[in-house]
Amino acid sequence: MKKVEAIIRPSKLKAVQLGLKEADIPCLTVVPVKGTGLQKSYSERYRGTEQSMILQSRVMITCVISDNNLEKCIKVIQDNASEGQVGDGKIFIYQVEDAIRLRTGTRGDEAIM
Ligand SMILES: Nc1ncnc2c1ncn2[C@@H]1O[C@H](COP(=O)(O)OP(=O)(O)OP(=O)(O)O)[C@@H](O)[C@H]1O
Ligand SMILES: [Mg+2]
Repeated sequence: MKKVEAIIRPSKLKAVQLGLKEADIPCLTVVPVKGTGLQKSYSERYRGTEQSMILQSRVMITCVISDNNLEKCIKVIQDNASEGQVGDGKIFIYQVEDAIRLRTGTRGDEAIM
């Protein structure tokens, strides 16, 4: 299993959620976050001042998925969250040890499908 953590623009959340649902990846957790990326470009400066200390509002989406859904999940997020502009966000991928559905006690891939 993999954990996909995507930090995206809040305005892209609906499209990403719909895209994931249509790709049979319906389970997700969403948290509002604030953060900063590398801010290297001119468009990320305000009146000539570097904005590296300014935290931007973003949304973090977390999906725990089976290994064979990984590339599909990444593509859906990339296709729906990217404007091709600085600040579009990032995807981080983690290995997941195990998952347990509390209601049934089922574990691993069975717990997330
Ligand atoms: N290395 C990182 N670690 C943790 N959070 C990050 C990291 N990079 C980006 N983020 C988060 O993602 C958000 C968007 O990052 P952003 O897209 O600006 O990254 P970037 O590396 O500056 O790329 P770009 O040049 O496209 O802007 C940040 O506000 C921050 O919340
Ligand atoms: Mg940036």
